[in-house]
Amino acid sequence: MCGIVGYIGKRDTAPLLLEGLQRLEYRGYDSAGIAIQSGGTGKGAGGLKTAKTKGRVRDLEDRIPKRFTGTAGIAHTRWATHGVPNDVNAHPHLDPLEKVAVVHNGIIDNASELRAKLSAEGVTLVSDTDTEVLAHLIARSVADSLETRVQEALRHIEGTYGIAVLHADFPERIVVARNGSPVVLGIGEHEMFVASDVAALVSHTRQVVTLDDGEMATIKAGDYRTYTTEGSRTSSSPETVEYAAESYELGDHDTYMHKEIGEQADAVDRVLAGRIDDRFATVHLGGLNLDPREARAVRRVKILGCGTSYHAGLIGAQMIEELARIPADAEPASEFRYRNPVVDPDTLYIAVSQSGETYDALAAVQELKRKGARVLGVINVVGSAIAREADGGVYVHAGPEVCVVSTKCFTNTVVAFGLLALHLGRIRDLSVKDGKRIIEGLRKLPGQIAEIMESEPEIKKLAQEYADAQSMLFIGRVRGYPVALEASLKLKEVSYIHAEAYPASELKHGPLALIEPAMPTVAIVPDDDLLEKNRAALEEIKARSGRILAVAHQEQEKADRTIIVPKNEDELDPILMGIPLQLLAYHTALALGRDIDKPRNLAKSVTVE
Ligand code: M6R
Repeated sequence: MCGIVGYIGKRDTAPLLLEGLQRLEYRGYDSAGIAIQSGGTGKGAGGLKTAKTKGRVRDLEDRIPKRFTGTAGIAHTRWATHGVPNDVNAHPHLDPLEKVAVVHNGIIDNASELRAKLSAEGVTLVSDTDTEVLAHLIARSVADSLETRVQEALRHIEGTYGIAVLHADFPERIVVARNGSPVVLGIGEHEMFVASDVAALVSHTRQVVTLDDGEMATIKAGDYRTYTTEGSRTSSSPETVEYAAESYELGDHDTYMHKEIGEQADAVDRVLAGRIDDRFATVHLGGLNLDPREARAVRRVKILGCGTSYHAGLIGAQMIEELARIPADAEPASEFRYRNPVVDPDTLYIAVSQSGETYDALAAVQELKRKGARVLGVINVVGSAIAREADGGVYVHAGPEVCVVSTKCFTNTVVAFGLLALHLGRIRDLSVKDGKRIIEGLRKLPGQIAEIMESEPEIKKLAQEYADAQSMLFIGRVRGYPVALEASLKLKEVSYIHAEAYPASELKHGPLALIEPAMPTVAIVPDDDLLEKNRAALEEIKARSGRILAVAHQEQEKADRTIIVPKNEDELDPILMGIPLQLLAYHTALALGRDIDKPRNLAKSVTVE
């Protein structure tokens, strides 16, 4: 949540920062702001200039005064935690003399205490934010260097932060620090960048240094150095960002969601690439760090994730149970971390996250590690916080996902679970024959996804038919239930239509009362051993005049409409059955004129509790 970006070098700063903010806007988009060093020090000789506003980055652009020039600056796009989105609460925050400017991503837990203390000492706080205290604390320090001033201020802070600090008296540097919220340095030619995500940097440089928690950095136009919040030097060698700038571009698409749904066949090719071992009917997962003996000793698997990643984990748990015959389940990481879970040494814990930053998932991993558990990650963003914290894992290689609503990452995560389940299965009791069958199924996926994409015009028409619904019910049984959960989340996030998902088996235990012509049901009806049971549920709905849209492998007589999906192996069917429903959510939102890539109240990386 919240994007920060900074630049120091010879180029004019404001346009570069605004471009960076545009690329980070998916992290938060209720207000935006910028501060630049306009050259010189002291009163009347330059100092800091700021502009900030409620609204989007394009609103900030309209607010930038003429002659807003400088060669160092920091900027921010916000997702409000403390204080409503308005001009005053927008970052950067400054001290009363406007010497210090701070942008911050994270939450200062002891902000109210610090605010009260500062007020009692006569400081006037102008905003309702937690961040403002940092500007005051830094401004009060009289240490010789900006680095020490920031370190002194941070000693008062409890909570999470990724911060960038500009000081009028130290115009040749930006000081940044990280604790729980990402900070990445971008190394250019006689210029340096900083951002909360490489997305803001890749059009300028692919050489990056990712800070660790407890680490700080000073960037100057010609160099950078990293050190701890206690002042000890740290070593950090730059890495090359995996994806080029074009992967972050919209190209010919109107929205990132549409672009990303359409990229799924290629993305699945990538998660499979180089991993299949036909000889032993298994897969190689290089980063797992789990030898066969350890894999055989696993008694249970517990998968943790939030939102869409949790749903991917539910499918993953079923795959692991079915293919590896290890009892497995998934739980929202946000719940798990608060219930003082019993941590069992024979359980393999798996954290799932697209961003690798989600605070609830990260905190669950940290709690597990503290209790001595082995934790793997199924993660998209390479080198992200959860990936670093985990003992090993599987990268899902979906490529950058910019739309707040996750699509291709969900699909790739589920495929990654298919690989993991096959790997564990083949170490245990899955036969060569079944291993080969699953491999064949995995190989078919990209072609079958491309086939599903051909039904887009038909799905678009269906979406227009359903766009007037006030509420929709999604049902599925066993393998189909997590698909229903994810499809209902997709629809509500992007279209704002209320949607609920239920196991089809639970219909007559309550939700059947909702059925009437104005309440459409979307039913997941795979051709597996539960087909007849699912058909019975359709009968029950039809008998109560419900409208039914089925997602199935063959036409469903009781449904008003059926979207036909190609059949794969039973265990892999959930991977494909959700894809048409991503398109349904997208086209419904389009028909309703929603802000598809940036749904109201949401942000992509939920780095706060
Ligand atoms: O980055 P993560 O996968 O950890 O994010 C978890 C959820 O916040 C995320 O999946 C959220 O539910 C999306 N908006 C779903 O479209």
